[in-house]
Amino acid sequence: MPILKPDELDIISISAEQTRRMGIRLGKLLSPGDVVCLSGDMGAGKTVFAAGIGQGWGTTHQVTSPTFNLVHAHRRQADHVIFYHLDCYRLERPSDADSIGLDDILDGDGVVVFEWPERIQPVLPKHRLWITFRVLDETRRNLIFQGNSPRYVDLITQFRESTYGV
Ligand SMILES: Nc1ncnc2c1ncn2[C@@H]1O[C@H](COP(=O)(O)OP(=O)(O)OP(=O)(O)O)[C@@H](O)[C@H]1O
Ligand SMILES: [Mg+2]
Repeated sequence: MPILKPDELDIISISAEQTRRMGIRLGKLLSPGDVVCLSGDMGAGKTVFAAGIGQGWGTTHQVTSPTFNLVHAHRRQADHVIFYHLDCYRLERPSDADSIGLDDILDGDGVVVFEWPERIQPVLPKHRLWITFRVLDETRRNLIFQGNSPRYVDLITQFRESTYGV
């Protein structure tokens, strides 16, 4: 059973498939304007989770790693809202965020998911759901969800309810 702090959720995934399903569950709960930061080691499962988010949120295209393009935009059919998936790994300084048009993305009404958000920490939106991934062993990953505004605390509560029913 997780520790019941309202603004934090600490869980373990035992497989890539489970991490993807967790992403699907979160994706179903996201609304336009939401920002999610996926932080943590290489190979920890951020892209697997982001692919799940896209699936749960309703994109019809498969979500892959935006390592080369840095930004992928997936528009969903139902309401045309865009899910932006950004990989900041190769940005060397926060000002490089200009090169990927971050301001326009954040001014829009999309859902924005960052991988390697720590690369551009100073220019990230102040309020966000932050998820830290840690490799425990070959197949187990620790995911810690932290919310820093009422919206994201609420999102964590909804995610917890959809997972554990409490
Ligand atoms: N419990 C798990 N959750 C997620 N991925 C897992 C898990 N167990 C094993 N894996 C494997 O770990 C890898 C995770 O890769 P992924 O590309 O999602 O990592 P990443 O955090 O996006 O890395 P990068 O920082 O390079 O972008 C995949 O090969 C996946 O199959
Ligand atoms: Mg990745």
